[in-house]
Amino acid sequence: MRFSFSNFGRNRSTMATINTLEQYQQEYQKSVNDPEGFWAEKAEQFVWKKKWDSVLDWNFSEPKNKWFIGGKLNITENCLDRHLEKRADQIAYYWEPNDPHAKAVSYTYKQLHEQVCKFANVLKNNGAQKGDRICIYMPMVPELAIAVLACARIGAVHSVVFGGFSASALSGRIQDSDCKIVICTDGAYRGAKGIPMKDTVDEALEVCPSVEKVIVLEHTQSNIRMVEGRDVMWKNEMEKVNADCPAEPMDAEDMLFILYTSGSTGKPKGVVHTCGGYMVYTQYTFENVFNYREGEVFWCTADIGWITGHSYIVYAPLLSGATSVMFEGVPTYPDAGRFWQVIDKYKVNIFYTAPTAIRALEVAGLDFVKPYKLDSLRVLGSVGEPINEEAWNWYNINIGKGKCPIVDTWWQTETGGMMISPIAGVTKTKPGFATLPLPGVQPILVDDKGNEIIGNGVEGNLCIKFPWPSIIRTTYGDHERCRQNYFATYPNLYFTGDGCKRDEDGYYRITGRVDDVMNVSGHRIGTAEVESAINMHADIVESAVVGYPHDIKGQGIYAYVICTNKNKDQEALRKEILAEVTKVIGPIAKPDKIQIVSGLPKTRSGKIMRRILRKVAEGEMNNLGDTSTLLDPNVVEEIKAGAL
Ligand code: WT7
Repeated sequence: MRFSFSNFGRNRSTMATINTLEQYQQEYQKSVNDPEGFWAEKAEQFVWKKKWDSVLDWNFSEPKNKWFIGGKLNITENCLDRHLEKRADQIAYYWEPNDPHAKAVSYTYKQLHEQVCKFANVLKNNGAQKGDRICIYMPMVPELAIAVLACARIGAVHSVVFGGFSASALSGRIQDSDCKIVICTDGAYRGAKGIPMKDTVDEALEVCPSVEKVIVLEHTQSNIRMVEGRDVMWKNEMEKVNADCPAEPMDAEDMLFILYTSGSTGKPKGVVHTCGGYMVYTQYTFENVFNYREGEVFWCTADIGWITGHSYIVYAPLLSGATSVMFEGVPTYPDAGRFWQVIDKYKVNIFYTAPTAIRALEVAGLDFVKPYKLDSLRVLGSVGEPINEEAWNWYNINIGKGKCPIVDTWWQTETGGMMISPIAGVTKTKPGFATLPLPGVQPILVDDKGNEIIGNGVEGNLCIKFPWPSIIRTTYGDHERCRQNYFATYPNLYFTGDGCKRDEDGYYRITGRVDDVMNVSGHRIGTAEVESAINMHADIVESAVVGYPHDIKGQGIYAYVICTNKNKDQEALRKEILAEVTKVIGPIAKPDKIQIVSGLPKTRSGKIMRRILRKVAEGEMNNLGDTSTLLDPNVVEEIKAGAL
C-alpha cells in the first residue's frame, strides 16, 4: 500500500464499533474465530507506509509474538499528521498546572505536531539516531508528551522513568538499556512540594557512561548545575531547529518503547512494546471501552511514567484525534476538590482514575464534591488495582450521579492496553468486577498445576491463551527472563501473576497478585526490591517484606527486619530504613510498618514462610495455617507478640 492519507478518519459520529451487547458478542466471536482477519480489519484504518505481508506469527514457547509482519509505519503520523487535514485547530491537550493559579496551556493538533517535529530535530542535532534509547525523566508537563512523541518520530526508543524514582533507581534503568540521551526538567512541583529533578539526574549519571547528552527543560526556575559539553537547555536547542521532520519509517515490529516494571524477583525489567500492534490495540480499546465519541474531552489522571499514561494519555487519545486533559498536580492540592474542579473547568466527558485516588477523596468527604456540577461526565473509568465495592459505589453515586457507566479496566504494563473490562454503556457492570474479556482477549483460569478450571463460579490463576496485538515482545536485553516470567509457569499460556474469580455469570473479578508483587496506591512494587533496599542498611542482616490490606493505598508495605546492633534505638532505625528505601527506590516504596524481630519464620530448608508473615501483617494471628514445617516455632510467637 502506498503512503496515503486517504484511508483514515471514517465519517462517524462515534468512533466506537461496539454499541450494543450483540455487537460485542459478534466482535468477540470474530476475534476468536478469525483473529488475523479481525485485527487486519482494525489495522486498515491507519496510515501505513507499506502494508504488512502477514498478520501474525506466534508461539508462546520461545516466546515469539509478531503482528503485522513486514508492515511499515510511524505511529506519530497516525497520532498527528493524519489529523492535520481535519482537526488542525482542535485541542489535543489541555494542560492543567499543579498550581491552580498558574497559567494553563493548551496545544492544538497543529501546535503539537510542530513541537514534536521541532523537538525531534533537537534530538537528531544531539546525536540521536533510530534505535537509540532515550530516557525521559520529567514531571507531567506537556513537553513530556512532546518528548515521547519526538522519540517515536525519529525511531528512537523511549524509556520513561517515573519522576518519583530515586537517582539509584534511575541510574539502574538508564544502565540496563544503555540510554544515550536523558531528557529532564530542572525541578518539579507536587502539591505544595518542590522536587529536584536535574540534581537527581546528575547523581544518577555519575554511574551511567552511556549518556552523552542531557536536555533540560526549564520548569521551576530552580538553580541547577550544567555540565559543559553534556547538558543543553530545551529552549536554546528549540531555537536552532525548524519544524520539518519527516517521520522515520518503522517496521511494525521495531521497538517503540521500553517501560520498566517490578516483578517478584530481582531488578525491575524493561517491558518492550513495538510499533504496529501497540498502535492498533490501544486505539481500539480506547474507543470501545470508553465508547469514545468524536469531540469529547477525555481525562486520564495517571502519570505518563506508567503504562496507563503511555497508552491512554499519549498514544490512544491522539490516535483517535481526541481532546485530552493532562494534569500536573495531585488530587488533594490545593484541596480534595481539585479533580472535580478540573472536570468542570474543561467539561470532561470521560474520566479515568485509580481506586486509591477515589478512596482518598471519599475519605476527604462530600463537602469537596458539592461545589461542582460534574454534569459533563458521561463515562467513568478505574484502573490499576482492584476497586472495592464501597469505593465503586461512592464513585458511581457521588461522581457519576448514578448515570455514568463505570469501566473497571484490568490490564498490565505487559499487556500494553486494557484486557478485561466492561464496554461503557454496553456491558452490565457489577461493583468489583472487571467483567468480560475485550475482543481479542482469551482468558483462562488454571490451578497451580496448570490444569484449566472450567465452568463458572470458580477461582484460579489468570492466564491468556492467545496473543493480542500489544502483548509484551520481550524484556529488554534478556529474552530468557521474559520467557521465564510470563511463559514458563504454565506451558503455552501467558501468565499474568494475578488471581481471579469467574462468577456464575462468567464475569471476571481480579483478586490481586499471587506472586511477590505488591500494589501500593496503584504502584507495582516487588517485595524483593524493597528487601534489597532495606538490606543496604549497615545494621540490617535480613528482612522480609509483605503487603497487607490498607484502607486508602489498597496495599500497605509491612517489613520485618533483623537488626544486628542490639543497642540501636528503634525509632532511629526505622527512620534510617525509610531513608534507605527512599534513596534506593523512591518514596513510593517506603514501608508503612517496620517490625524489628530477632528471627524470621523459616522452613528447615531455609525458605522464609511468607504466608505466615502475611497472615500476621493482616492481623490474622490465630489463623496461621500449617506451621509444622517451621524450623523454630518460637520465632512465630515472638513475631505475633510484637505485631504492629
Ligand atoms: C497489575 C498491573 C494496568 C495499568 C496500571 C497498572 C493490577 C490493574 C486492575 C483492575 C484489579 C488491577 C493487577 C495487574 N490491576 N488493573 N482493574 N483490577 N487489579 O499496571 O503497574 O503493570 O500493574 O495491576 O494486579 O497485574 P501495572
